[in-house]
Amino acid sequence: MTEERNNMREIKFYTDNSVPLEMHKVRIVQKLHLLPIDDRLNAISEAGNNTFLLRNKDTFLDMLTDSGVNAMSDLQLSAMMTADDSYAGSTTFSKMESKLQEIFGTKYVLPAHQGRACEHILAKVFVKKGDIVPMNYHFTTTKAHIIIQGGDILEIHYPEALIVESNNPFKGNMSPELLKKAIAEYGADKISFVRMEAGTNLIGGQPFSLANLKEIYQICKQHNLLLVLDASLLSDNLYFINVREPAYQNVEIRKIAREFADNSDIIYFSARKLGHARGGGICTNKHELYMKMRELVPLYEGFLTYGGMSIREIEAITVGLEETMDYDMISQGPLFIEYMVNELKQRGVPVVTPAGGLGCHLDAMQFVPHIPQSEYPAGALGAALFIASGIRGMERGTLSEERKADGSERYSNMELLRLALPRRVFTLSQIKYAIDRITWLYENRKLIGGLKFVEEPTVLRFFMGKLAPVSDWQEKIVAKFKADFGDSL
Ligand code: F0G
Repeated sequence: MTEERNNMREIKFYTDNSVPLEMHKVRIVQKLHLLPIDDRLNAISEAGNNTFLLRNKDTFLDMLTDSGVNAMSDLQLSAMMTADDSYAGSTTFSKMESKLQEIFGTKYVLPAHQGRACEHILAKVFVKKGDIVPMNYHFTTTKAHIIIQGGDILEIHYPEALIVESNNPFKGNMSPELLKKAIAEYGADKISFVRMEAGTNLIGGQPFSLANLKEIYQICKQHNLLLVLDASLLSDNLYFINVREPAYQNVEIRKIAREFADNSDIIYFSARKLGHARGGGICTNKHELYMKMRELVPLYEGFLTYGGMSIREIEAITVGLEETMDYDMISQGPLFIEYMVNELKQRGVPVVTPAGGLGCHLDAMQFVPHIPQSEYPAGALGAALFIASGIRGMERGTLSEERKADGSERYSNMELLRLALPRRVFTLSQIKYAIDRITWLYENRKLIGGLKFVEEPTVLRFFMGKLAPVSDWQEKIVAKFKADFGDSL
């Protein structure tokens, strides 16, 4: 049966070029403040030029992440009030379990407090010293958990994954040839599992195709390898399969979701992204895998019927998972991102294309080519954008890497400034403001300079590290802003 579509794309405009149209209305709002530019400079300086360390009250548009900050629906909020708050055997947990069983067709569900907690359990159970974990691309916390267990990751994507401007619809695909080569080279017994990340985060929220997943799963089965699906960004990937993969254009979202599950052995997710609440979970159909992972849940997370999550959040996740089966819900983010990407591209600003999920990604390598990777171009661009606009993005480049064992820098393949669009949070006029200030900054890009560490943590340094500008470039941006914008905020 063809799903009835009432989506943004199909609503045409009579007088104007079509713009993405919200299929929801806003009923709860939060007041925002835009600090004057001198205060913005002070705020980012106090935060050590690290957008993670900014106070949210000093931020105008918080585009740091989509994690735990997507808008929740009226139905989610009302479900939270019906939560059955019990330590063991909670009805609320049973509801989430049933919803996951219904959507993915998987019998067993383990709760965890967020996505990285699932990664912790997976790494502890499956990764041995000297193992490798082939994946389409790493995520920061995934990689850190695998490395702590003495394993390593192997990224086996196609070259297009790292090409910033492309028209490849599935840059998140894994290369089957490289997977076969890795199996031949390392031996299946050295491979903990094969990991496919939906809506591949660090290369710009790029999807993989179901055809690719099926091919990879067949190879895994031939070699008795487990395929683990990171479904944190599944909602974006579901949308992209529906609009970009011809075989799935008239297939219900629910059926597409089931195909993801049918072609993997274990699914885990951050419910801070999937389900628009705060938590996580691991699903599988295989009893022996479930039993191996189960004992770690009460040890690290909490009892099996809450796993470190608030019971109210579990109610909200259950509703959020059901809402993810709605095209109107999962299309909003990607369509707003597509609008932002296309507008910036027309103005000559270097952005990752095709537009992905999660957010709009500025390419710092091209935006500020005069800043060497040793001075963190994407981090510098993030600090500059905050000064120019009060918008906070997230560095996804060399700062987000760990140093090599000898202390030298591991230069990232891409230097991106991610501007996340938490789903259903921003209005189109706020997106237009962002486009305007990014365009101004691009025209003044030569003023932007590099950053250097003044306080550098050894693990996941991007979260807490503090940096300073290498010159007085930030004052020059402030002066140019005042010259161009007068007394505007
Ligand atoms: N996997 C992916 C693909 C993610 O994007 C994230 C989190 C995780 C796992 C970990 O989940 O945060 O619930 O522990 N991404 C967030 C982000 C942090 O901002 O992109 P978590």
